Amino acid sequence: MLRWRLKLWLLLACAHGALFPEEEVALARGKTALVTGAAGFIGSHVARHCSDLGMRVLALDDLSGGFRANVPEGVTFIQGDIRDAQLLERIFNEHEVHYVYHLAAYAAEGLSHFIRSYNYRTNLVGSVEILNQAIKHRVHCFVFTSSIAVYGSINDLSQMQNPNRSLSTSGHKALHHQQGLKEEDRPTPEDPYGIAKFAFELDLQAAKELFGIDFVIFRPHNVYGPHQNMFDKYRNVVGIFINQIFHGQPLTIFGSGEQLRAFSYIDDVAPILARGPLQHRARNEIFNVGADVAYSVNELAHAVSEAAGAPGHPRSIQPARLEVEVAVSNHDKVKEYFGVTSTVGLKEGLERTVRWYRQQGYLFRPVEFQSVEVMERLPPAWQREDLEERAVCHGSRVSRASSHDGEL
Ligand SMILES: NC(=O)c1ccc[n+]([C@@H]2O[C@H](COP(=O)([O-])OP(=O)(O)OC[C@H]3O[C@@H](n4cnc5c(N)ncnc54)[C@H](O)[C@@H]3O)[C@@H](O)[C@H]2O)c1
Repeated sequence: MLRWRLKLWLLLACAHGALFPEEEVALARGKTALVTGAAGFIGSHVARHCSDLGMRVLALDDLSGGFRANVPEGVTFIQGDIRDAQLLERIFNEHEVHYVYHLAAYAAEGLSHFIRSYNYRTNLVGSVEILNQAIKHRVHCFVFTSSIAVYGSINDLSQMQNPNRSLSTSGHKALHHQQGLKEEDRPTPEDPYGIAKFAFELDLQAAKELFGIDFVIFRPHNVYGPHQNMFDKYRNVVGIFINQIFHGQPLTIFGSGEQLRAFSYIDDVAPILARGPLQHRARNEIFNVGADVAYSVNELAHAVSEAAGAPGHPRSIQPARLEVEVAVSNHDKVKEYFGVTSTVGLKEGLERTVRWYRQQGYLFRPVEFQSVEVMERLPPAWQREDLEERAVCHGSRVSRASSHDGEL
């Protein structure tokens, strides 16, 4: 019995240091995974872990926000758009896909108010195109990377019954700082990005009901680390801060800087996503995933400056923008199902990220949208003379050349 247990819980160390239970490696071996967004930050790590687990990996990405260099060796790269239903049909006809890991998205929550249509076309309709194929080709499990953004800020219905509840921001902050958002809290997303994520969560559940396709939904938050989009000026505050320091620019802080976020190092998130379909108990469940400890944006600014060797780096205070003030989630469920705890603290994670950034050997020039769909109320920090308001926004596109700004 003891030997059996030992065998069951024996952990296999893979080439890159991630640990996977032996029975999951056995399940993964020989399976084919389609990872969308695999040239992006989280997707490239998930693709690598899937490959380490023994899966054959098809990596799909249109390179609108990711780099070809992020795609791990040994996987099959397909450059294409998730909104291209015919391309997807060809991929699924040519390959027997067992697991889909859907990460492709444009993930700028704040900007999504001003690019609503682009947001829904990419993050919702594109997701549905993949799900259609997954249903028709009887994929075993569809792993969807949703977001903490689905919760919005007024999500704890139990508090609606609480006569002592406070609707003030500070009361809300105190409440969630203690407990964190739980998977059963009712989502009330407040921006188009969160609404698209939640809509697709519902769509997946409807597909499960009618067609029986299994899913696992993960709701990560504020992930940072190597391969991150350092060039995007609208999202990923860790990347923005690092980029600003190395460009000698002040750190832009919106409002008071007291917004709370639990910044999560990539190695505490991506391996769990890769294991999603391999834990049968986890099928058709939703999991928060990420770090437990919350920091304010001001604290983050301090920590990034220290990690980059620039303590006291100047800050530029910008008007507050429309955003959720406190986004801290509870991870009891993911720990129970996947038996993991967050391991990389903010200081260590930031030092690793800065080290990776320096290793790139070049500076990232921020990439900006050429147009938005609605200009009204766009934060001043995002306004530019040449920014256009257009009926159809095509997003931004990066290339290594365009981000090559100088040597570090
Ligand atoms: N980074 C975070 O903190 C975080 C938090 C919660 C959820 N998420 C979700 O995780 C996923 C990955 O995020 P990320 O931070 O790695 O972003 P990322 O931009 O680094 O990766 C997304 C990838 O999707 C690709 N992509 C975008 N539109 C596409 C399209 N139409 N067709 C094909 N590929 C397309 C991009 O080129 C990019 O490589 C996203 O779904 C995001 O919403 C991220």
